[in-house]
Amino acid sequence: MERKLELMELVAISVLLALLILPNKANAAPQVPCYFIFGDSLSDNGNNNNLLTLAKVNYPPYGIDFPQGPTARFSNGRNMHDFIAELLGFKDYIPAFANSRGKSIFSGVNYASGSAGIRDETGTNLGICVPLNEQIKNHKSIISRITRLMQNDSATDLLLRQCIYSVQIGSNDYINNYFKPEFYETSRSFTPSEYATLLVQQLSLQLKTLYNYGARKFAVYGVGQIGCTPYAISVYGTNGSVCVEKLNEGAALFNDRLKPLIHQLNNNLPDAKFIYLNPSGTATGPATFVTNSPCCTIGGGGGELCLRNSKPCSRPWQYVFWDAVHPTEALNKILADGAYRSMSPLEASPLNIQQLAMY
Ligand SMILES: *[C@@H]1O[C@H](CO)[C@@H](O)[C@H](O)[C@H]1NC(C)=O
Ligand SMILES: *[C@@H]1O[C@H](CO)[C@@H](O)[C@H](O)[C@H]1NC(C)=O
Repeated sequence: MERKLELMELVAISVLLALLILPNKANAAPQVPCYFIFGDSLSDNGNNNNLLTLAKVNYPPYGIDFPQGPTARFSNGRNMHDFIAELLGFKDYIPAFANSRGKSIFSGVNYASGSAGIRDETGTNLGICVPLNEQIKNHKSIISRITRLMQNDSATDLLLRQCIYSVQIGSNDYINNYFKPEFYETSRSFTPSEYATLLVQQLSLQLKTLYNYGARKFAVYGVGQIGCTPYAISVYGTNGSVCVEKLNEGAALFNDRLKPLIHQLNNNLPDAKFIYLNPSGTATGPATFVTNSPCCTIGGGGGELCLRNSKPCSRPWQYVFWDAVHPTEALNKILADGAYRSMSPLEASPLNIQQLAMY
């Protein structure tokens, strides 16, 4: 009996000590209960693995710096949304829709699919993907699963309105649609200006559908400098410029229409907060980063992905590009930090993600 008491005392003292020593963060709840992710390969963490497509990366050297190896993240390590989930205080990464099980979905789900776009036909030159419309249908099925597990409709509604909904999509509507005239009609049917308008109109309807499904906190991304990737430069040439101007001009037209849409949705949808994030604000990385060549040897996918089992560069932390399109983990961290805490309205407007979480 005496021995037992002693043991109990020891346990109590250790617990007290642990509470004093450990930073509070270890036990803190995340700043929002859930994080839902919609998008393309910049966000995908495994949804394409069982699809017939060239746009999948479940092989080395992808994931060489990720604890679980090649999970199908399009990077050497964590993607931007893994870092944002960490910054928001989540202990685990948000599960891919394709692998989501049980109550883990209460913390959010990642629906993103490599090569996917706002338009349904986008990316089909590479194979099967999950376009944004279908990602939203998958979200609807997740809501049904949450509703069933919670058995309380008002608690489900309350949960859904506290989550952050990340929507980063549109690059493929350019690089795997409009600027691939051998596969798609869009560049013959629409001027770049008409096409940008069409994309943003469709995205507007898709965001309103998510709102109707209970979403209230939206982090929406513009399209980055798609004309500055090693892939774009090698395929299109730069005609004396640093980057492929027609691709960057397409992206700029899209962003120019997206920003006022965000403003308009904030004015028109009660209780909602939309923020616009500019991924190219810091996209070139620190001046010391290598920007003009990828870290890995190219030779997979449609000519933009790493060659299977190839040996990558020895210092990926000094590169902007991991393969010919996608950022390294090092750049993803910089982009995530910017989206999360930037006070520059050019990068995050009207709020950054940290402020959106508190909103
Ligand atoms: C359902 O959830 C609401 C909101 O969280 C809560 O106030 C209510 O007590 C719950 N009802 C039941 C039956 O658990
Ligand atoms: C290349 O650049 C020149 C000079 O700026 C311009 O006149 C020409 O239209 C460009 N060509 C293409 C194919 O973009």
